[in-house]
Amino acid sequence: MLALVDAMRTEAPPLVPGLPLIGNTLGLIRQHWRPFVVDAYRRFGPVFRFRAVHFELTVLAGPKANELLIRDSEGLLSLRPNFEEFIGELGTERFIILLEGDDHRQMRHLLQKTLSKNSVQSYIPQMIEVTREAAQRWRPGDPIRVLPATRRIVLDQLGLALANQRIGQSFDAFEYFFSALIHVFSIHDRPRWWLRRRRYKDAKAEVMRFAREVLGAHRRVGESRAHDMVDDLLEFRNADGSSLTESDLLANCLIPYFGGLHTSANTTAFLIYEVLKNPNLHARLQAEADRFFRGRSTAPESLAKLQDFEAAVLETLRLHPATPSVPRTAVKDFEFEGSRIKAGCSLFVHTTLMHDMEEHFPDPARFDIDRFLAPRNEHLKMPGAFAPFSLGPHMCLGAPFAQMQVMMTVATLLHEFDLELDPPDYDLRERNTPIPSPEPKFAIRVRRRRRAPQTD
Ligand code: HEM
Repeated sequence: MLALVDAMRTEAPPLVPGLPLIGNTLGLIRQHWRPFVVDAYRRFGPVFRFRAVHFELTVLAGPKANELLIRDSEGLLSLRPNFEEFIGELGTERFIILLEGDDHRQMRHLLQKTLSKNSVQSYIPQMIEVTREAAQRWRPGDPIRVLPATRRIVLDQLGLALANQRIGQSFDAFEYFFSALIHVFSIHDRPRWWLRRRRYKDAKAEVMRFAREVLGAHRRVGESRAHDMVDDLLEFRNADGSSLTESDLLANCLIPYFGGLHTSANTTAFLIYEVLKNPNLHARLQAEADRFFRGRSTAPESLAKLQDFEAAVLETLRLHPATPSVPRTAVKDFEFEGSRIKAGCSLFVHTTLMHDMEEHFPDPARFDIDRFLAPRNEHLKMPGAFAPFSLGPHMCLGAPFAQMQVMMTVATLLHEFDLELDPPDYDLRERNTPIPSPEPKFAIRVRRRRRAPQTD
């Protein structure tokens, strides 16, 4: 599959034919990213190039590409060049996605303490409470825009659990700041001078003020609160006994607020859509949510009762993965599946190719939660075929948190409210920004259930 020595004798990856100047831009707009990649994979194989107006990218896709991501023993790929400038705007170089080797392992170990499966269970009551509080402010009968609503909910859940601080008034600043960085450094459809605009500077100042507030609150002694991720960051010591610098601390205590903003929130919104579009699934999950809340316990035995919900979250991550591909840069020349990849080449590893393939998930366009339940268990048939959280050393650390928060948010909503699409016959349109998300106008209406089964 891979060879360093022969790299220069092989050919460049095939170029997906496109139009002069604009390359494959039209195809991408017409088809969307995932169908475009599946189509190109079938026509050109597991490695190909494509062009848009302002960039050229090489895509690696399929089982061998996922294997490379997991076992990059030669150190061929790096994430650092893709995010150096982006994260630089936070004023640090010591940020998990930029780190490699021992530094990276050390930071993962630190963040893992509050993001592990065990830790996540202790946040469940708070996840439910945050959802309830948010939904109680929705006026029955009024249209509720789903995406802004789920973004606030997941950010408050993450902020309270990992930093003991809600996002509050800083929400808009976070949204603007993050989205500007994506446009300038990831999609490259806005110039760098965009970051000199007043609105961006104000948003950045507010985000950093918020970070100082979070850090300050953690340094004050005598306040009783749960130990969290920010405490772990403050306690961290390098091998020489030194702690993280002030700028490293400020940037890293924002992890809870950036980790879920476009990922967990979009997944929650997609799941709400799929449930409301399918009356049988709606009834099935609502009944399961009622049984769960009747049990009044969030112990592991009780969570096991949510198996349909768990399957529904997995199916949402399959059909609407928030991160269908992950960016990398080739660090050395190498050969992949017969094509030459040159050092410095910008790559997308399309980790979720198999999500859309009949061979792995029959009738792949259909939302069908039973494919994740016994006896079908389609996701377990081939390792790496289901990869919504990426694979390898940088695989998502927040996966257990994310799955739990999506599940708890939707379970709480279904238990307490009757929800319907607005308008009832609404068909979802997806946007790629580049993170796939429901279009902003996706809305629901809520009505408190007349005889909501007893909660706590
Ligand atoms: C549905 C929700 C989520 C999805 C689909 C998702 C997806 C991903 C993906 C694909 C990566 C790996 C990128 C790569 O290989 O280049 C990643 C990394 C990461 N995610 Fe998530 N994520 C989600 C939620 C969260 C949440 C809630 C957190 C909580 C803080 C989080 C924290 C992280 C961290 C810290 C990393 C960096 C890991 C490393 O570099 O070692 N994620 N995520």
